[in-house]
Amino acid sequence: MTETVLITGANGGLGRLMRPRLAQPGRTLRLLDLVQPEPGGPGEDVEVIEASVTDEAAMRTACAGADAVIHLGGISVESPWAGILANNIDGTRVVMEAARDAGVRRVVLASSNHAVGFYEMAEAPEGGLPADLFPRPDTYYGVSKVAVEALGSLFHERYGIDVSCLRIGSCFEKPWDPRSLWTWMSPDDGARLFEACLATSEPGFRTIWGISRNTRNWWSLEAGEAIGYHPKDDSEVFAAEILEGWTEVDLAVPEQRLVGGKFCTGPLGRDQNS
Ligand SMILES: NC(=O)c1ccc[n+]([C@@H]2O[C@H](COP(=O)([O-])OP(=O)(O)OC[C@H]3O[C@@H](n4cnc5c(N)ncnc54)[C@H](O)[C@@H]3O)[C@@H](O)[C@H]2O)c1
Repeated sequence: MTETVLITGANGGLGRLMRPRLAQPGRTLRLLDLVQPEPGGPGEDVEVIEASVTDEAAMRTACAGADAVIHLGGISVESPWAGILANNIDGTRVVMEAARDAGVRRVVLASSNHAVGFYEMAEAPEGGLPADLFPRPDTYYGVSKVAVEALGSLFHERYGIDVSCLRIGSCFEKPWDPRSLWTWMSPDDGARLFEACLATSEPGFRTIWGISRNTRNWWSLEAGEAIGYHPKDDSEVFAAEILEGWTEVDLAVPEQRLVGGKFCTGPLGRDQNS
C-alpha cells in the first residue's frame, strides 16, 4: 500500500526532526512550508512545496491525493494578533477546508500546552492532568491553538475526518532546563506519536499531550496510550546535567508550576507591537 502524507510547516524545527523519522517505504512525504524545504535526497520519497497555508489554491493542490495531513505550519511563539490570526487561525481553517474538499480522511494538528497554560501542578490528579482539559490559554498564541482544536472538532463532527490535536510540550533533541524535564518529548517519541495518530482505527477527535515518558511528568499519557502511543524516552537521563547550576524546580515561582511556564507571565502579543 502506498500513502501520501502532507506535512505543513515542514521546514521548521519539528518538521525537520520528523522528516527522517516519518519516512517509510511506500510513503511519500509532501513537505510544504513558506520557506521551501530541501528537495529529497537519494532514496528519499519526498515532494516539496513552497506555499503558505493561508493560500487556498495552493492548499487545494497540496491536499490533492493526500491520505493524511500533519499540520505544523504557523507561528510557534507569542506574537502580535494580526499574524497569529492570519497564519494560525485562518491558516488552519484553510488547511481543514482544503483537506475536506480533497477527501483527506485524517488530520493531525499541532496544538500546544499553551492552549491550557494556566493549569498548575497542584491541580493535577493522580496520574496527571488529563489531555482534554478545558482551554485556559496563556497567550494569543495559546488562543490560536484553542481555535486550531475547535476547527479540528468542527471538521470531525461535520465531515467525520479523524482529527488528533497534539498538546505538545517541547519536542527538541534534549531538554534544557528544569521545566523541560516534564515538558519534553523526544524526537523519536514525537515520531511514535505521529505514527499512532496516522494509524487510528476509528475516526475520532481527540486531544493528546505530546510528551515523553518522563519521570517528572504531571500530564497524563492516558489519551495517547488509548491510540497506541507508548513513549519510550525519559528526560531523567539528562536531569543531573541540567540541574547542575540550576536550583530544583521552585514551585513558589508561578512560571515553574504552571503548564505554560514563562508564557503565562511574559508579554502578551499586543505589547509586542511597539
Ligand atoms: N516544537 C515544539 O516543541 C512545539 C511545542 C508546542 C507546539 N508546537 C507547534 O508545532 C508546530 C511546529 O513547531 P516548530 O517548533 O517546528 O515551529 P517552527 O517555528 O520551528 O516552525 C514553523 C514552520 O512553519 C512555517 N510557517 C509559518 N507560517 C506559515 C504559513 N503561513 N504557511 C506555511 N508555513 C508556515 C515556518 O516557515 C516554519 O518553518 C507549530 O504549530 C507549533 O506551534 C511545537
